[in-house]
Amino acid sequence: MGVLRSHMGSGVGLALLSACESWAAGADIRRIELIVMTSNTPAIALYRRTGYEIEGTRRASIRIDGVDHDQFLMAKLL
Ligand SMILES: CC(C)(COP(=O)(O)OP(=O)(O)OC[C@H]1O[C@@H](n2cnc3c(N)ncnc32)[C@H](O)[C@@H]1OP(=O)(O)O)[C@@H](O)C(=O)NCCC(=O)NCCS
Repeated sequence: MGVLRSHMGSGVGLALLSACESWAAGADIRRIELIVMTSNTPAIALYRRTGYEIEGTRRASIRIDGVDHDQFLMAKLL
């Protein structure tokens, strides 16, 4: 997910996650997984704050402009 730069820091990310989780709970989904680059401090802070935990590191799992980056697998049990 992504929030327009002009609207970052005003609760939109929290609202988007909350809406996803409400939908998932209504669909009897018990677990949500996500993948985030290990350098993405704002996103990781958002996910931790809302109860997602790091379950592992996917090393060199994405290549951007010829550079490999690590990603965290994070998950939350609803
Ligand atoms: C990550 C992202 C979705 C957060 O959305 P947002 O609307 O700015 O976040 P919110 O205003 O709802 O903030 C909720 C929480 O996220 C964390 N957070 C948000 N921006 C942060 C920042 N710049 N630094 C540290 N923590 C941050 C905080 O825990 C914050 O809670 P707080 O305000 O009580 O401290 C947004 O920064 C974004 O679109 N980033 C670019 C795209 C991206 O990286 N998407 C995720 C890919 S996995």
